[in-house]
Amino acid sequence: MEIQINAGKLETAKCPALALFLLPEASNASAKNVYSSLIARVYRQKDFTGKLEETVWLYPLEGAERLLLVGLGEWSNKIKENDARQNFQNAIGHAVQAARKLAIEDLSVSLEGPFVEKFGYRLTAQYVAEALCLANYRFLKYKSTVPDKEKPLQKTTLLISDERQAAEIKEGVRIGQIIGAWTCFARDLQNTPSNDLPPGRLAEIAAEKAAALKIACTVHDEKGIRELGMGALLGVGQGSVNPPRFVVLEYKPQNQSRAENSPLVLVGKGITFDTGGISIKPADDMDLMKHDMSGAAVVLATIGAVVQLQLPLHVIGLMPMAENMPGGSAQRPGDIVRTCNGKTIEVADTDAEGRLILADALAYAQRYKPKAVIDLATLTGAIYTALGETAAGLFGNDSALMMRLKKSAERTGERVWELPLFPEFFEYMKSDVADIRNIAAKPSGGGASKGAAFLATFAEGYKWAHLDIAAMAHPREDKPLVPKGGSGYGVRLLIQFCRDFGE
Ligand code: BES
Ligand code: MN
Ligand code: ZN
Repeated sequence: MEIQINAGKLETAKCPALALFLLPEASNASAKNVYSSLIARVYRQKDFTGKLEETVWLYPLEGAERLLLVGLGEWSNKIKENDARQNFQNAIGHAVQAARKLAIEDLSVSLEGPFVEKFGYRLTAQYVAEALCLANYRFLKYKSTVPDKEKPLQKTTLLISDERQAAEIKEGVRIGQIIGAWTCFARDLQNTPSNDLPPGRLAEIAAEKAAALKIACTVHDEKGIRELGMGALLGVGQGSVNPPRFVVLEYKPQNQSRAENSPLVLVGKGITFDTGGISIKPADDMDLMKHDMSGAAVVLATIGAVVQLQLPLHVIGLMPMAENMPGGSAQRPGDIVRTCNGKTIEVADTDAEGRLILADALAYAQRYKPKAVIDLATLTGAIYTALGETAAGLFGNDSALMMRLKKSAERTGERVWELPLFPEFFEYMKSDVADIRNIAAKPSGGGASKGAAFLATFAEGYKWAHLDIAAMAHPREDKPLVPKGGSGYGVRLLIQFCRDFGE
C-alpha cells in the first residue's frame, strides 16, 4: 500500500475519506477545526463516545467527502506507553476495516492527536504505517474475483499540520512499512497451500529473498542433509515425494565491529504439511497443518526486516523444512534416528515431528558459538489448552534472554507467557532403547513443556529460548490488525527483539 504524507490544515484536505482519532467525551477538548461543531453534536447525541472499537461515519458539508470518527479509548497521562501503542494501533485497524467495508480506496488519516505527545512524530508515524499495513492485509491470490468490499485500500495519506515534521515522519513510515510488509510476507507464506509450497519451493523462496537482500544463503538438499548427519530431519521427510531441505541464512552487517561477534541464531520449524505421518492425524482441521511452517516463515521475514533496517546485528537463520507424510517409505513409530550431534531418538510417535527436525537444527546451531538461540515452532496442540489464542508459550534456559523477549512482547503486543521446564518433564522423555523419546511414555498432560524439554536437550552450550506459536500462528478469529488465517505472529516480536538486542 502506498502511504503519502501531506502537510497542511485539515480544512483544506479535500479527500474521499478522512479518519480522525478521538478521545472519550470528558477529555475531548480537542483542537478547533472545520469539523468541531459537527463532532460536538455527535458526542451530544452519545452516538459515538470515543471508546476503543467505536467508529462512526459522518458526511460533512465542507472538507472531506466522508469523515470517520475513531475512538481511542481512555488515554489519561497514566496510561502505560505499551498499552497506549496497542490501543492506538487497534484504533487504526478499526479505521481500515470501516473504510474497506465501504470499498474506499483512498483513506486519509490525521496525525494530530494525543498520541503525538505520547510517542513523538517519528514513532507515531511508525505505528500508523505498521498498523495500516497489518490491517489492510488479505490473502486474495487464489480468488478469481474479489468483491470491492473485500479489496484492500490502495492508498493512504497521512495529514500533518506542520511541514517541519515531515522528515521525522517519513523515517517513521519507512520503518513501519518494513515491519508491516515483512509480517505480511510471512502471512502470505503461511497461507499458501502446501501443494504450492513444498520444502523445495520454500527453500527457493528463501534463496530468492536472500539474493535480493544480498545476504548469504545455503540450501542443503536431501543429499546435503545426509552429509550433515541430520538423521532426524531426513526421517521426517522420507515419507514424502517432496524431499526435505535445510536452509541457512546469514546476515553480517558491513563495517561493524559487532559483526565479528558471535551471532544471534533464529531457528524456525518448516513443516510444509503435517499429516502426522504413520501416526496420522484425524481429518478434522487437518487442513490447518499447511501452517506448520510458520516458524520458518517468521524467521525468514524477521531476517529480511533486520537486513532492510540495517540493524548492527550478526544474525543466522536456520530453517529445517520437510513434509510429514505417511506412505511406503515413511518412518515408522519405533524407528530410531540419529541427529547431527550423534544423539539417538526413538520416534515413538511420527506426529511429534517438529521437535525432530528442530533437534537437528538446534544441534547444528552449536557450531556458531551463538550469543543466543531462539526457536519458533508450531510445536504442540497442548499450547492451545494452556494459553488459547492469547500468547505464545515461552520456555528457555536463560532468564535474562527470556526477560528480553518478554519486554519485546510487551512493546509489540505479541504476547508471550513463560511456562516451566521442571526436571520431571526431562524424566518423562527418557527412552528404553535410545538416548531420548520424542513423546513421553508416562503421565499425560503438560504437552507443551514436554516438547520444550525435548528441545532443551538439544539446545546445549548456549543461551536458548523456545516459542511455541501453535495457537498464535493461525488464529480463528478476525482482529483489527490480524485477520484470521496466517497471522505473521512473531515477526514484530523478533524485529523488536533484534532492534533492542543490538543496543
Ligand atoms: N504441528 C503439530 C502441532 C499443532 C497442533 C499445531 C495443532 C497447530 C495446531 C505438531 O507437529 C504435533 O502434531 N504435535 C503433537 C505432539 C504429540 C504427538 C506429542 C500434538 O500436539 O498433538
Ligand atoms: Mn505433528
Ligand atoms: Zn507439526
